[in-house]
Amino acid sequence: MPIATPIALVILAAGQGTRMLSDLPKVLHPLGGAPLIAHALRAGAALAPERTVVITGQGAEAVETAVAGFAPDAVCIRQEEQLGTGHAVLQAAPALEGFTGDVLVLYGDTPFVTPETLTCMVEARATHDIVVLGFGAADPGRYGRLIMEGDKLARIVEAKDASEAERAVSFCNSGLLAADAATLFRLLGQVGNGNAAGEYYLTDVPGLAVAEGLSATAIACDEAETLGINTRAELASAEALFQTAKRAEILEAGVTMIAPETVFFAYDTVVGRDAVIEPNVVFGPSVTIETGALIRAFSHLEGAHVSAGAIVGPYARLRPGAELSNGARIGNFVEVKAAQIGEGAKVNHLSYIGDATVGEGANIGAGTITCNYDGVMKHEAQIGARAFIGSNTMLVAPVTVGADAMTASGSVITEDVPDQALAVARGKQVNKPGLAAKLMARLRALKAKKEGS
Ligand code: UD1
Ligand code: MG
Repeated sequence: MPIATPIALVILAAGQGTRMLSDLPKVLHPLGGAPLIAHALRAGAALAPERTVVITGQGAEAVETAVAGFAPDAVCIRQEEQLGTGHAVLQAAPALEGFTGDVLVLYGDTPFVTPETLTCMVEARATHDIVVLGFGAADPGRYGRLIMEGDKLARIVEAKDASEAERAVSFCNSGLLAADAATLFRLLGQVGNGNAAGEYYLTDVPGLAVAEGLSATAIACDEAETLGINTRAELASAEALFQTAKRAEILEAGVTMIAPETVFFAYDTVVGRDAVIEPNVVFGPSVTIETGALIRAFSHLEGAHVSAGAIVGPYARLRPGAELSNGARIGNFVEVKAAQIGEGAKVNHLSYIGDATVGEGANIGAGTITCNYDGVMKHEAQIGARAFIGSNTMLVAPVTVGADAMTASGSVITEDVPDQALAVARGKQVNKPGLAAKLMARLRALKAKKEGS
């Protein structure tokens, strides 16, 4: 449903992430092949926000580069000192000059929140000034507690500041909050840091709103949706949850996997109906598999497009820019990078095809290598339609092999091969009659002499 109110996202990503014990900023740790922050950006983007502001701090430069890649329109603002979540949101004020509408605060380290839940929050704004996202916590521990009065939120109390009775409340704060921009920034101006943590808490906002006669509420979602990542163990559990959900989605799309628990997807993997994925296949980002394709066991794919009816593997590696046309065949121990493999073309065994075009129906023999790199620059190899490349051919790029041409096995091809020509580029064979037997006899005699001495 379209949301009438303009939305601005404020994504908090300045925190240290101390418990990750990492040089990498927490929000850049990957989940399903994309940094955590990308998941928050994606969920938020589904609301078609008018503006997106990311608050950075620890590792700001790296975070800003990642944000630019996933959300080029987002504005990053640095929070030089991390003085608390309220202080963090306040940093967004200059970037939201002239914006009227609702601000939705998200966390960069909370990747599972769904667009549907965010939409519910924004819709609840129709009847309440402040909307907080809550969840029933299995272990409320360090979470802020939502103190409800009926369906109204009276205030949020942080665990550190809570009384024993308040700590017994299990309805907890996810940290996500929606409010009218002007109201939010006005209330944030009133937030102090006289609390157990000495921080400016965003969570003071609902209580301040209520004290002014405004209304606040909390809507509930599943705890799994608000799962935040603070440790490597939590990152691993989150990855497991992500994979379980993605496998279910792929199976529901009409894909066969006999051992889905051994197949690993990225956030953006697309697999067409009636494709088959055998066990132990790993997908990096940006892979599309069309209908009816077969991905055989132990293959690794990243940035690749596999067209209908193509077969990949077992033990194949498709790297970014691998583009397989219908019915193409990439066999065992074959690596393909930045290369188009034409319709029905076959690269069946032990080959490297990089920076290349392989025409339709071409057959690339075992052990063929496109020698694409001279140590400084990359060069292209073109292989024509229906060409037959003999086993163990080295194609020293830049080079073109014409349509219907052949290369002899073991050739080192350094010059273009015209259409329909046969290129032979290897030492000529010489047979010496009887020489093998003589040589053997001499070697055996030599060995016997050595052992006797
Ligand atoms: C916060 C909430 C708590 C809630 C919990 C849910 C507050 C005061 N408490 O606690 O009620 O139950 O989240 O996980 O809001 N950040 C900044 N700048 C800062 C401080 C934090 O950008 O100065 C970012 C962090 O990177 C993180 C998020 O804000 O993404 C939450 O901060 P964190 O320190 O994890 O807050 P909690 O103590 O977990
Ligand atoms: Mg936290």
